[in-house]
Amino acid sequence: MIQLDPQKLPVHLAVIMDGNGRWAQQRMLKRIVGHQRGAETVKMVVEQSSLLGIRYLTLFAFSSENWSRPAMEVRALMTLLKKYIRQETARMMRKNIRYNVIGNRSDLPDDVNETLDEAILKTAGNTGMVLTLALSYGGRQELCRAAARLAQEAIDGRLSPGDITTELFDSYLDTGGLPDPDFLIRTSGEMRISNFLLWQLAYTELYFTETNWPDFTINELHKALADFQSRERRFGMTSDQLTQRGDLSNA
Ligand code: IPE
Ligand code: IPE
Ligand code: MG
Repeated sequence: MIQLDPQKLPVHLAVIMDGNGRWAQQRMLKRIVGHQRGAETVKMVVEQSSLLGIRYLTLFAFSSENWSRPAMEVRALMTLLKKYIRQETARMMRKNIRYNVIGNRSDLPDDVNETLDEAILKTAGNTGMVLTLALSYGGRQELCRAAARLAQEAIDGRLSPGDITTELFDSYLDTGGLPDPDFLIRTSGEMRISNFLLWQLAYTELYFTETNWPDFTINELHKALADFQSRERRFGMTSDQLTQRGDLSNA
């Protein structure tokens, strides 16, 4: 059993859930079967994260670039998403989890948006973990949307360019109000960010595993979190400075 320090868990865990297609293809199955199996891993990670006391969990479920996949796969993913949200909302209520969505929702089919709205509304009063789904999400697109909104505020005379600080900019992103992720897990062996949370990952600890998403287990999640706990996050400072700060706050 992997020992975790409950005081040192990430406040915000982000995950790039990758490798569903390869998982299926290696088994001579259709890619969508991999996505279906991946949905089971999502249930496990949501349940475990909430149980461990992680406050924010953000899952990359569908990227802006994923629209370029074959239409049949895109359709199947949208159907799966709808089914997942419908099936899981009752469990989210029991576990006091609140749904949130980031990404360009105007590109999602109407029925998916309706299902999302229902789930968001129903869970809006929940005070436990915030589960953010990144759907039709791209980091560059999000940054452009934020810049466009800021420009409009300036044109309307509500803002002057000198008012734009990192804090203000942050609040214009889809993730406004969420803390930056402390830890990012990507499965399937790819060592890239693929346009996920480009601004927010500035000081996030990154973790890559070869395991494909449908095979990702509780034990692997715990192993990843134990790795996070062994890291020294310096945020540009020196190790000595951090030790001194620690001494002061313990005094
Ligand atoms: C991740 O698995 C799920 C989505 C991107 C929707 P993939 O479908 O990317 O699986 P691989 O990377 O092709 O194996
Ligand atoms: C990133 O995975 C997007 C999601 C997990 C939703 P991709 O499979 O789309 O990324 P690339 O194309 O391999 O970079
Ligand atoms: Mg992939």
